[in-house]
Amino acid sequence: MGIQQPFHRPRRLRQSPAMRRLVSETSLEPRHLILPVFVADGLTEPKEISSLPGVYQHTIESIKQVAHDVAATGLGGIMVFGVPKDEDKDATGEAGVSPDGILNRALAAIREDVGDDTLVMSDLCLDEFTDHGHCGVLGTDARGAQVVENDATLEQYAKMAVAQAKAGAHIVAPSGMMDGQVAVIREALDAAGFEETVVLAYAAKYASAFYGPFREAVGSSLKGDRRTYQQDPGNARESLREVELDIDEGADIVMVKPAMSFSDIIAQTAASVDVPVATYQVSGEYAMLVAAFERGWLDREPAIVESLYSLRRAGADMILTYFALEAARLINDGG
Ligand code: PBG
Repeated sequence: MGIQQPFHRPRRLRQSPAMRRLVSETSLEPRHLILPVFVADGLTEPKEISSLPGVYQHTIESIKQVAHDVAATGLGGIMVFGVPKDEDKDATGEAGVSPDGILNRALAAIREDVGDDTLVMSDLCLDEFTDHGHCGVLGTDARGAQVVENDATLEQYAKMAVAQAKAGAHIVAPSGMMDGQVAVIREALDAAGFEETVVLAYAAKYASAFYGPFREAVGSSLKGDRRTYQQDPGNARESLREVELDIDEGADIVMVKPAMSFSDIIAQTAASVDVPVATYQVSGEYAMLVAAFERGWLDREPAIVESLYSLRRAGADMILTYFALEAARLINDGG
């Protein structure tokens, strides 16, 4: 009795690098990657963020060099976050709205330098600029309890959007999860003559434990959590509703965030919408990978590439990742 020979041999298509290249279903290119960066006011030189090794708070001078690298490497763009001085934070986040605030100054400097060689994107949220650290302004509800006030926040977002577009952002990215934020931002941009400014909406954004290192990166003042506005990680259908609402309000691109633990949501979103889908490999995802690299528990380069392939395979057209420059170099070197 001989061993029965298999008729089906899927291994045939895996036998060599050339064969695997021929049948590869997913591509990962530098243009798919967006680098999130931090610019801090009052710094004289870049400062490494301890929970994000290899990621820095930048000065306006040093961020211009990074933006230049982003353009030269052919990335999709650069997403800028501002870190004001503590004394410039207030209850309503005016430093985020003012053209003299650190984020708007950085956007202007970067745009002047890179022009249209890469896309300048700006985080549109109040949390870095408020002294309480919430993404919106605080108020009291009809019973007198303290809440993050939705509609009062929208007024700030509208002003912030116009200020960012004026400073030079090609794309504004509202990340505060207030209801109706995309509509007011679109309307304010249009009214100010910025019809061509793109809105990349953080549409499905979860209240995640994986934002921990980011809070250090931006010197967050938050006490408590964001669960009254960011989504419950257990919910999936809710994301489809959030995404649908944002597209209806005028979002040009929708984002799912975080990435790795929500790739089912990326896949469902990609299957149900007709606009580009972004995802954000957030600070905690970066930190856990880097921690494993530092211990020698994971092999850095293949793990980075695989983590990004998985998100492209799930359906993301573009990925925000702190690995963007390194990953693009790996791809460009044929890695
Ligand atoms: C809010 C914002 C956050 C992140 C991006 N935009 C923090 C939050 O929602 O608490 C997190 C990004 C990351 O963890 O890398 N402006």
